[in-house]
Amino acid sequence: MKAVGLRELVRYAKRARRSAHAPFSRFKVGAALRTSRGEIVTGCNIENATYGLTLCAERTAVFKAVSEGLKRFEAVAVVADSPRVAAPCGPCRQILWEFCGDIWVHMENLKGVQRTLRLSELLPMPFDQRNL
Ligand code: THU
Repeated sequence: MKAVGLRELVRYAKRARRSAHAPFSRFKVGAALRTSRGEIVTGCNIENATYGLTLCAERTAVFKAVSEGLKRFEAVAVVADSPRVAAPCGPCRQILWEFCGDIWVHMENLKGVQRTLRLSELLPMPFDQRNL
């Protein structure tokens, strides 16, 4: 992933994180998704009183982007305040895979601990439309 673009993407993810609605877990997450044309779409986690309807930051970003008609993606940055970097949860990996393909996934905490992997490393042997 391009280094310059990466820092900018992380800044967007950190800003999005501030909008997180996480009164139940108090764990705020921000995500920023970059399209192959350079557009950036952000997302944060949004919890609700039934807990189970919570939407993670990554899926918020993907669904916002898809609903705006954006189709080709190259990277996502995910920022959380945890001692080790927070990797996307299982359902988010699946949604990222189906809508974004094998993008770069950059994970970073607020102290600058970071890790960048391809989505295929986080989700080997995915289930997708090729299986249907
Ligand atoms: N969360 C995310 O937003 N992304 C992830 O990949 C992991 C978890 C959110 C969901 C919930 O609001 C909070 O973090 C605690 O699980």
